[in-house]
Amino acid sequence: MNDIFRIEGFDRKRKLAGTIPVKGAKNAALKAMAAAVLFEDELHLENVPNIEDIARTVELLEQLGATVQKTGEHSFSIQVPENATSELSSDISKRFRASIVLTGPLLARFGSVALPHPGGCVIGKRPIDIFLDGFQKMGAEILEEEDCYRIRAPKSGLQGTELFLRVPSVTATETFLMAAVLAKGKTVIKNAALEPEIQDLARFLNTCGAHIEGIGTPFLTIEGGSLLRGKGHVYTTPPDRIEAGSFVILAALAGKDVTVENCRPEHFEALLDALETAGVKMEVSDTSIRVLGEEGQVFQPVDIKTHEYPGFPTDLQAPMSVFLTQANGESFVHETIFEGRLNYTEELVWMGADIMMLDVHRMLVKGPAELHGRELKSPDLRAGIAYVIAAIIAQRKSVIHNVYNIDRGYEKLEERLTALGARIVREHE
Ligand code: EPZ
Repeated sequence: MNDIFRIEGFDRKRKLAGTIPVKGAKNAALKAMAAAVLFEDELHLENVPNIEDIARTVELLEQLGATVQKTGEHSFSIQVPENATSELSSDISKRFRASIVLTGPLLARFGSVALPHPGGCVIGKRPIDIFLDGFQKMGAEILEEEDCYRIRAPKSGLQGTELFLRVPSVTATETFLMAAVLAKGKTVIKNAALEPEIQDLARFLNTCGAHIEGIGTPFLTIEGGSLLRGKGHVYTTPPDRIEAGSFVILAALAGKDVTVENCRPEHFEALLDALETAGVKMEVSDTSIRVLGEEGQVFQPVDIKTHEYPGFPTDLQAPMSVFLTQANGESFVHETIFEGRLNYTEELVWMGADIMMLDVHRMLVKGPAELHGRELKSPDLRAGIAYVIAAIIAQRKSVIHNVYNIDRGYEKLEERLTALGARIVREHE
């Protein structure tokens, strides 16, 4: 069943005040849960967000034969036994791209994995050539079947090798990092992605017996070894920098005095730099950002170009573009990573935004534009929260359908926004 959000717009009046806590990072926790395959014993995880993609990962792991215990509201312990299977269920794994990272550890530990043809998604076709090429270079053979790729490691197991990632893909980096932990010999991953979530995972795996060097650089070197040990260690999910950045943008547009807490500002400096350039007033500490807003405040336009970390995150492009609809001038937005990631702007234009698409990767956003409440459909989780932000600053009421997409990445969003003073209610469709 899909829910809807009903939102009453403030017509650009500043009504939000108070603090909003940031939850654990979706794109960290999902991969740490997949890493449980690398462990001979239980892996304990904390600060895991209660979101749909986590629920799907639990289902996937249980279908593989893992024991998954929810040990607290935001904590799990996971044990993957020797007799686990490695056939990823198609109907679940197609629902979220992160499932692909399970292929690395499963192939490395169990010698085979069935990877369903990944569904593309609204933001792009999401190819998997980098994954298939890399596994072949590690000695695996790949059979393309009707509904999946059957990947088999040699009898002697995956072989460490040198991998150059054509694109610094986050999930490809994580997948090969985890596969290399159990592969024979040394693996070098060149042009590795640098996202904080990857660095966090690699550091944690090292505390459990992995040998990963070059963390935080584009060159990772992994010495393969035996199964890791989780005993005495706890993986604590880092705060979600994309959720934090989205809340800072909302506060900049509709807040009088809002503090975003339990976050790590140094993980989204590109956004903070852009907002500062626009004239947003912020007080930044190590774990929080206080945003101060005055009625009638005028923001300067800012050009945005998305880029792998530490550049401007593509996952904040949609929320930032809503901000730019209110800036006093013309902003150029260049989405360099995904070819479908500007599609959501049609609905913003329908709300009254002044956006001119130049091609699938580039657009001009002119402001300030008055936004009018509309009936919208969330195409993906990042555009979904962008619509929530737009609806809160718009005139009159909006309805957002497909809230499952937003629930994929944001825990109890309406409750946390209501606590700030937003008028947003969830209803069953
Ligand atoms: C991760 O995707 C995130 N997903 C994305 O967040 C995020 O937008 C992205 O990093 C950038 O920060 C997860 O961590 C689960 P890709 P990533 O599919 O890097 C090309 C969200 O909303 N490519 O690898 O794993 C591809 O076409 C999601 O939470 C190939 O060409 O994304 C694209 O241009 C959305 N061949 C680029 O790489 C391949 O085999 C990144 O795509 C794989 C990728």
